[in-house]
Amino acid sequence: MIIRKSESELARMAEAGGIVVDTLSLLGEHIRPGVTTGELDKAADDYIRSRGGVPTFKGYRGPYPYPAAICTSPNDVVVHGIPGEYALVDGDVLSVDVGVTHDGFVADSAYTFAVGEIGAEAERLLETCEAGLWVGIEQCRAGARLSDISHGIQAVVEEAGFSVVRSLVGHGVGRSMHEEPQIPNFGEPGRGPTLAPGMTFAIEPMITAGSAEVVLGSDRWTISTTDGSLSAHFEHTVAVTEGEPRILTRAPVRVS
Ligand code: MF3
Ligand code: CO
Repeated sequence: MIIRKSESELARMAEAGGIVVDTLSLLGEHIRPGVTTGELDKAADDYIRSRGGVPTFKGYRGPYPYPAAICTSPNDVVVHGIPGEYALVDGDVLSVDVGVTHDGFVADSAYTFAVGEIGAEAERLLETCEAGLWVGIEQCRAGARLSDISHGIQAVVEEAGFSVVRSLVGHGVGRSMHEEPQIPNFGEPGRGPTLAPGMTFAIEPMITAGSAEVVLGSDRWTISTTDGSLSAHFEHTVAVTEGEPRILTRAPVRVS
């Protein structure tokens, strides 16, 4: 069952979303060569709590409880990179995923940052992933079908010559981080549930510059490309309304 939220519940999700986006903006100011991902995690954890939120990811169930407030996924890491000693290098791309629980509701958003100067192909990868996210968001309208989101994302990404990771999906979000439905980033249009006002989705294309195949790291959280190719990940929490799609995690300013 896809849980539909009332207007007041959407407002509460947008409160959590405001903390998420301000955290991503803060991290964008910290991101530069030499900074460690562990330092970014500490800054995010402190900031989220200072706003009265709780980092949703910390302690999240998995192979073992997720040990950090955010996910930091450099270069060939697709998602769920655990912050630590890694120091950013000029030319890196760094995907940062932030989830906040506030007043009983969750918002979830991710952004791939350029560290210093990145190559032209890396730049195109980031732009494509973000464009895919926006096309996916554009489908979030009452009366559309769920797989219209999936198809829109896939079309943008493959048109640009990149690959969609198939084993990782977007998801419903609300009182829990993961609600029904799962939202693949590929598929035929016109399939699946019909979208209705009050549905809230975390839409999150995860794409690679090479093969779509991914591998789980020895820490049992980190997911990387098998061929070592670069990856990008952009995510927003979005509500279906009677009219335009409503983004509950307002877009952060692009920082490099
Ligand atoms: N945005 C990610 C997701 O939707 C974040 C999960 S990280 C975890 O799955 F550690 F909490 F699992
Ligand atoms: Co998510």
